[in-house]
Amino acid sequence: MTKIIDPYGSELVSDYGKIVKDFGLEIFNKNIFPNPNAIMRRGVVFAGRDMQIIAKCIKEKKPFYALTGIMPTNQEIHLGTKLVVENLKFFQQLGAKTYILVADLEAQAARGVSLEEGRKRALNFHIPAYIALGLDPKKTIFYFQSENKEVMHFAYEAAKKITLNEFKAIYGSADPGRIMSAVTQVGDILYPQFKERMPGIIPVGIDQDPHIRLTRDVVSRMKSKKFFSPGSIYHKYTPSLDGSIKMSKSKPESCITIPEDEKSVKKKIMRALSGGRTTLEEHRRLGAEVEKCMVFELLKQHLVEDDKELDKIYEEYKSGRMSAGEIKQLASEKMMVFMKDFNKKLEKAKKQVDKLNFVEF
Ligand code: TRP
Repeated sequence: MTKIIDPYGSELVSDYGKIVKDFGLEIFNKNIFPNPNAIMRRGVVFAGRDMQIIAKCIKEKKPFYALTGIMPTNQEIHLGTKLVVENLKFFQQLGAKTYILVADLEAQAARGVSLEEGRKRALNFHIPAYIALGLDPKKTIFYFQSENKEVMHFAYEAAKKITLNEFKAIYGSADPGRIMSAVTQVGDILYPQFKERMPGIIPVGIDQDPHIRLTRDVVSRMKSKKFFSPGSIYHKYTPSLDGSIKMSKSKPESCITIPEDEKSVKKKIMRALSGGRTTLEEHRRLGAEVEKCMVFELLKQHLVEDDKELDKIYEEYKSGRMSAGEIKQLASEKMMVFMKDFNKKLEKAKKQVDKLNFVEF
């Protein structure tokens, strides 16, 4: 079994090892890029594809791009999205040409959100939220799928390069709506290369890997076009607070959203699965089961930037000096600070939407 280095020994390790093997991913090496961010240093980022080419571009100051797509569904985002933005920001700061597209066509096909409504939600919430999470709006290029004729034209070409069986093998099913969304996404992923061929990196949760694979297959069948195959970088799921592997919107009591009000965040954290022992006496004697603790996972993935601070919390908790109640209290306080800061930045970013760089078609 491939071992993924997770300095805090999360129990989810073996599952991710299997994913790496099954999908043929490269294990992430935290020294590949200069000044790795917190989720890279801590093994939350665990794998990728073609990362070496991107590292070379960074080193030699050659052009490359980073891209992600937003599904404008609810007026809230998921903690996992924060991880995507963190990686996007990381590459942006290292000089990537940065693209964010609004997947309004996909939202209409998959979630029944009209184009008009999707546009509104993207401008009033999603795009400002991404800026609030740290992207530089001046250095980011935006577009709406529904306006991008070039992507659409490319999607038709891409569709001819894929068979139904292959599609089913990658996605597990092949309903027409899904096919339309997938070929559009292939176009999105390659769009920055339409004008100038260059390597790119797509930070995603592992659930989006099928799109990366499909795009790479399409590229390999269009050799004469000389596209670079898109690279990617994957982060682990932010687990549900009850301990299941992925935060799920179907379990709102175990899933923190951004934004969320103080009271309900606190309630959710207080009820979360922790690494605390049955009694305080036992906890002091045996120490916390940190690898089972969803609250520590929250601190590690989202709330503590400084490694020394995280190490200290780990030591205190693991040794039993810090109780489950105390770590929950700490996480609640940090989450409050995060939400407050987010809301403030969101309001500011909302005022800037008319100044953003939207591609004109
Ligand atoms: N399918 C993505 C989602 O469900 C949205 C998306 C569309 C996307 N095009 C993309 C993501 C290109 C990454 C790259 O959220």
